[in-house]
Amino acid sequence: MTPTNHVDLTAIMTALGGRQAMQDVLGVGASAISNYVARGSVPTHVRSKLYNALTARGYQVRLDDLSIICGPDAATSPAAKPMILLIIGGGIAAYKALETARQMQRLGLDVTGVMTKSAGQFITPLSVAALTNQKCYDDLFSLTDEAEMGHIRLARSADLVLVMPATANLMARAASGLADDLATTILLATTAPILMAPAMNPAMWAHPATVANLEVLRQRGVHMIGPTEGDTACGEIGSGRMSEPADIAAAAFELAVKRPQTLAGKTAIVTAGPTVEPIDSVRFIANHSSGKQGYAIAALLAARGASVTLISGPVTLPAPAGVKRVSVQTAAQMQAAVNAALPADIAICAAAVADWRVAEARHAKLKKPDHQNAAGMQLTLIENPDILASLGQSDQRPKLLIGFAAETEDVLENATAKRSRKQCDWMIANQVGAADDPVFGSDQNHIMLISETAVETWPRMLKTELADKLAERITMEFLT
Ligand code: CTP
Repeated sequence: MTPTNHVDLTAIMTALGGRQAMQDVLGVGASAISNYVARGSVPTHVRSKLYNALTARGYQVRLDDLSIICGPDAATSPAAKPMILLIIGGGIAAYKALETARQMQRLGLDVTGVMTKSAGQFITPLSVAALTNQKCYDDLFSLTDEAEMGHIRLARSADLVLVMPATANLMARAASGLADDLATTILLATTAPILMAPAMNPAMWAHPATVANLEVLRQRGVHMIGPTEGDTACGEIGSGRMSEPADIAAAAFELAVKRPQTLAGKTAIVTAGPTVEPIDSVRFIANHSSGKQGYAIAALLAARGASVTLISGPVTLPAPAGVKRVSVQTAAQMQAAVNAALPADIAICAAAVADWRVAEARHAKLKKPDHQNAAGMQLTLIENPDILASLGQSDQRPKLLIGFAAETEDVLENATAKRSRKQCDWMIANQVGAADDPVFGSDQNHIMLISETAVETWPRMLKTELADKLAERITMEFLT
């Protein structure tokens, strides 16, 4: 998907009166529409037909991406790209704001930079301005800026205010409601959602003052991403390392883009992450699933208005905004949580469920066998319940049941067989395990969507983009 010419076909379809109406306008069948949706773009002759049909119905439409500026009843929808006000705090992680800005632009977001005074010790306004193609603001009292765009207008023009790195000092000032520079003034004046990506020394993060500030900010609805565990710039290991730019950009994208509420009233279950099957009290069987794809899907379904239960194995990701998360460890627990969340209109099984569990997991630590008669350790494995397959056979089968097939070879053949074996509507297949193309833990994915009648090959894209496209595709299934 190229953000500049991506066409939101779901919104257009809704405006035209549904899928059949769009087929009639274009004089094509359902599969052609599915292909356009899969590609996220339409050929030029189709674009002009859609443009003419929409304008004939009284819509004001942008010619380049067919986004609807204004409906016949003058109800407006955002024509411009969502705008992120990127507040850069004064920490060593400030340089990562540049990469995050680039990633957000890739996702079709406009970025305007605001720097605190101390951020200027780490990066320059010039580099931010050059990268974002926008003036970078850093001074509350600059008359030129106030003449061009007052700080209140700047704060109000944002679809999301992103603070990164959110230093201990910036968080403390925001929590106390100070407005002693442009950054904190914007945080007080904005009505847009706020996302903070904290970064600091682990002891500062754990300090009761920071913990209290975090609580205050959270209670006021500020979204947080990270920090994560790992090496911090000061050489100490612990929690305080800022989340990676790709993850921050994805979270910003999910929060900033106002999507049509096309899935309002629908319920969805999403499974995500690995399951962890104990061997004894200290060891377990698990896999490399990061949960990123399932989490992104849950977030993007919720962004379109669905009521989403995310049933997750152990991962390090925060629960997406507006999603109910149920945390589990084992496949058996995941299945119980899925059953408890039924009935649902949609179920998407993105979890990498362990196929096997140890027959008799020990409560104590297993000891090495006696060396004199060591014959190797034998574990008896028994098969775990297949959650997707049991949903396929359930009396409460969701109307749309989607599985993921991670294959190392013969992807299409294996995934097609898996789709019919597990009785799901769509199987989303991808190749895993290639040394030069990791999917586990990566921010990108490329898939085939296999249904009973067709196979769509989607280009490589960010997992967030894929989730957005899938949510759009799911919406189409529910349009009459
Ligand atoms: N799945 C599930 N419960 C299981 C195993 C898999 O719900 N016990 C779901 C996964 O969430 C995924 C789909 O089934 O949506 C396919 O998972 P995959 O691991 O590719 O297939 P398996 O059935 O495990 O088959 P195999 O490992 O032999 O390829």
